[in-house]
Amino acid sequence: MYSTIITEQHEGLLKIIINRPDKLNALSETVLAELKEIILDLRKDSTLKGALITGAGEKSFVAGADISGFLKAGRNEGEQLAKHGQDIFSLIEKTQKPIMAAVYGFALGGGCELAMSCHFRYASATAKFGQPEINLGIIPGYGGTQRLTRLIGKGRAMEMMMKGDMIDAQEAYRIGLVNKVVSAEKLMDEAENTMRVILSKPQPALAALIEATNAAHDDTTEGFKKEAEAFSRAFASDEMIEGVTAFLEKRKPNFK
Ligand code: COA
Repeated sequence: MYSTIITEQHEGLLKIIINRPDKLNALSETVLAELKEIILDLRKDSTLKGALITGAGEKSFVAGADISGFLKAGRNEGEQLAKHGQDIFSLIEKTQKPIMAAVYGFALGGGCELAMSCHFRYASATAKFGQPEINLGIIPGYGGTQRLTRLIGKGRAMEMMMKGDMIDAQEAYRIGLVNKVVSAEKLMDEAENTMRVILSKPQPALAALIEATNAAHDDTTEGFKKEAEAFSRAFASDEMIEGVTAFLEKRKPNFK
């Protein structure tokens, strides 16, 4: 039993539902800890063949790391914070059982990063993607600078992270961030059907495929390290304090 995540399993498919709808499923420390535990179980449990990650409700997949905890953390904790998220998302990516994301609504910041750590993604027509960290005076820290660049290319990734605005599901599809866009009513059926097809394939071959395909991007270890360092430089800066305070006070930030 988890306090922030609902799990359901059916015929070897584990459904992982991030469940903090009043906070748009933002990734609190508890969500991250529970997610880690669930992924470790998925790896160990031979009755589970794969997973589908989604968010509770149709408004949001995950609206990012939990911003409300940012002001409590000091500058030195920035790097740790980034590394912690990076490690859990890498655990997802490296799991040798298929994991897909089904995205309804907002996939922002850590939410977009979580979706990108899955092996592939489907989105509802109402989904919105973005890396809005720049508006808080920080940068993506859970692998976003690396995985977004890898998925959609450097120029598009740079623009998206620099502007910090949202793109809609069709644009996400056009640039290769998601594999498929379907209506919100049909998304879960489509995602489950796809997973059923995949999970009927031979498991050792799926595991080998995931390992080999991940090796196409083996060169990112240094990139993740750089990201965590760069994240910590921006973390707890005057700009971050203003950006986060403005978000919490529901006003526009006043950057110098
Ligand atoms: N961390 C913590 N709380 C968050 C959150 C986050 N990343 N995203 C949303 N919430 C909370 C809001 O503070 C609000 O809580 P409250 O009702 O106690 O005030 C609740 O979720 C609903 O969000 P709200 O902003 O009122 O909804 P909205 O429809 O007006 O706006 C968003 C939706 C997604 C545009 C807006 O919530 C947002 O910009 N969120 C932050 C996105 C972000 O910067 N993510 C990256 C973090 S590094």
